Formats: sequence, C-alpha cells, structure tokens
Amino acid sequence: MKKILITGGAGFIGSHVVRRFINEYPDYSIVNLDKLTYAGNLLNLKDIEDRANYKFVKGDIVDAAFVDQLFSEEQFDAVIHLAAESHVDRSISSPMDFVMTNVVGTVNLLNAAKKHWANKFSDTLFYHVSTDEVYGSLGEQGMFTEQTAYDPHSPYSASKASSDHFVRAYQDTYGLNTVISNCSNNYGSYHFPEKLIPLAINNIKNNNPIPVYGKGENIRDWLWVEDHARAIDVIFHKSEPGKTYNIGGHNEWKNIDLIRLLCKIMDKKLDRPSGTSEKLITFVTDRAGHDLRYAIDSTKLQNELGWTPSLQFEEGLEKTVEWYLNNEDWLNNVTSGNYQSYYQDQYSER
Ligand code: NAD
Ligand code: TYD
Repeated sequence: MKKILITGGAGFIGSHVVRRFINEYPDYSIVNLDKLTYAGNLLNLKDIEDRANYKFVKGDIVDAAFVDQLFSEEQFDAVIHLAAESHVDRSISSPMDFVMTNVVGTVNLLNAAKKHWANKFSDTLFYHVSTDEVYGSLGEQGMFTEQTAYDPHSPYSASKASSDHFVRAYQDTYGLNTVISNCSNNYGSYHFPEKLIPLAINNIKNNNPIPVYGKGENIRDWLWVEDHARAIDVIFHKSEPGKTYNIGGHNEWKNIDLIRLLCKIMDKKLDRPSGTSEKLITFVTDRAGHDLRYAIDSTKLQNELGWTPSLQFEEGLEKTVEWYLNNEDWLNNVTSGNYQSYYQDQYSER
C-alpha cells in the first residue's frame, strides 16, 4: 500500500486531486495536510471524507517541526505538493505570506522528505505542482515550453519560481526524486470566487458589476480542473524522476471575450433576456505588473505520457456555471464573512 501526502488538498485543485486518488486508487492511503486558510474548505471534500483510505490533518507547512513530526508518524512514500498562497492580487498586497508558504513551506517539506527518505530515495517521489506564471508574459506569438527561461513578474509567480528552483536543487544536490508540472489557468467546481471565472459567475448571479481589469485584452489559457487532476495522476505514475511537464488546454481566451461568453451562458441558465448580463461588465483599473498573455505548449506531456485535455471550453464553462448555480450553499458559505471585506479592499479603490 502506498501512503501519499497531498498538501493543500482542501483547496480548489487539491480537492480534485484528493478525490481522484481516493476514487481511482482505493489501495493507496491518502493524507491531506491543509492549514484551512480562507481558500481551504472541508466542504470541498464532503463526498469522500468518510472513506477508509482518507485522512485529514490540519497543519501549517511553514511549521518545520510539525512537518518533520508528521513525516515521522506517517512514513509517507510520496508527496504531491499543492499547498500555496495562489492569488496574484493578494500577493501584491501581502507578498510575505507568499514567501512563507510557497518558499519556506516548500523547503520545509523538501527537508522532511530528504531526512525521512534518506535510505530509500528510489522508492519515493516528491511531486511539486507549479504554474505557467513562472515563465512570465508572452507577446502575441509563441508558447511556453519546458525550456522557456523563468521570468516571473508578480510576487506570486516569483515565489512559485523560487519553490521550483528549490525542488530542482534538492534533486541535483541530494538526489531526492522529484517531478514538477507547470499548469495554465484552471477552472471548474470548488474554485474560490476571488479568481476571474467564479467571481464573475457570483457577481452575475447577484446582479453586481463584473470587474474587468484594464481593457480586458489579457489572454489566459484555460484548462478544466479535472483534466489537470488527471494530468497529475498520469505524471505521478509515469514520469521519470527529475522531469518537468507543462500542462495546458491549448485554449487561449482574451478576458473580455471569455466574460462575454460567460454572460451569454448565464443569461440562458438564469432565463434572463439575452444581453442582460453583459450590461454588468465594468472596466476597472488594471492590475500592477499584469502579464499580457500565457499559452502553454504541452506537446511533451502528450507525446511522452499520452495525456490530452478532454473537454472543450464552451462545454466546460457551461458545466461550471451549472455547478455554481446548483451549489448555492457552497457559494454563500465562501462569500460570507471575510470575503466581503476582501472584496471591499480589493475593488472599492479600482
Ligand atoms: P487554492 O488557493 O485554492 O488552495 C490552496 C490550499 O493550500 C488551500 O486549501 C489552503 O488552505 C492551503 N494552504 C495555504 N497555505 C498553507 C500552509 N501554509 N500550510 C498548509 N496548507 C496551506 O489554490 P489552487 O488554485 O488549488 O492551487 C493549488 C496549487 O496549484 C498551487 O500550488 C498553485 O500554485 C498551483 N496552480 C494553480 C493554478 C490555478 O489556476 N489555480 C494553475 C497552475 C498551478
Ligand atoms: P485570475 O483568475 O486572478 O488568474 P491569474 O491572474 O493567475 O491568471 O485572473 C485571470 C485574468 O483575469 C487575469 O488576466 C486578471 C483578470 N481579472 C480581471 O480582469 N478581473 C478580476 O476581478 C480578476 C480577479 C481577474
């Protein structure tokens, strides 16, 4: 039986990864370590919380002694590391939180893995989940490949780039078996409504303005979160140690075009006359250091490990809207309390 530590499993992507591993591999034992920050929510895992092969541990990866103790007690065979501060706007107002969790927290996990796996690196794996934002910003042409030089611009992407470098350094210096994947923007269920798509869905639902930064010309490459979880599964099981894979949807959208599509879908689902939701679009002050364009070339993952995205964006976006409309309690829960003051701080000055 394999025992796997998944960090950040109560977050958006982490909850899909935990669910997938619990369902697909009943003979694995999964320990989900999560601090339950504003972004972590055990409601995201309600459907699997009673499974025999699942255990939740509340804790902070910044606490080195705690991480070391957990490794002693649990004797993990592998780590899939997703815990992070993940929102660019928050990294602009509170960069130190990103340094602590994304850099120091990752190094604490690497140190624990190095210490506790010292005599058996060959049977272990440290899988680090990262982002395409480490590569910086593209102009109108080109795509990020695994060879693209790192060029982060936000405190978030700088902290993720730093954590990637530490993971590679532990592979090269100490021989720890590591794998890194860098994925494009995800969307889907359980996405916290600070990010563009769920924020816009929530605002449209409540007839509130949809804040579009700058002129809405920035481009992102969107991937359905369950396709990302499947890619992580494939890489975890098939990759050789020391490798990096880019994961992306070949699905580039200008923000404003995406929002217009979302408005059309929402009008239909909410039975509103066509054009109603578009009236909520409001152009606001741009994000500082806003990367223009991300686009991922995931040819290596497709050719070497046979992964391809399964869903067309229009279909995925419609499924996502349906999920949010059918899960009002979840949405109300995460948008009560602190969310209101976050929203006020973030958007009232724009
Ligand atoms: P998220 O913000 O939804 O979830 C992060 C989780 O980590 C939360 O459950 C939170 O409670 C937990 N966490 C935060 N700090 C912690 C700490 N100090 N100790 C323990 N747990 C802590 O993030 P997400 O969107 O699910 O992203 C997961 C990972 O995937 C991140 O590493 C992120 O950089 C990466 N990624 C995200 C995207 C995306 O589009 N969201 C794309 C590519 C890569
Ligand atoms: P976001 O979901 O924060 O992801 P990331 O910055 O990691 O790509 O933002 C996606 C795009 O949408 C990005 O170009 C910024 C833009 N955006 C808005 O226009 N308005 C918003 O309210 C938010 C949160 C993002």
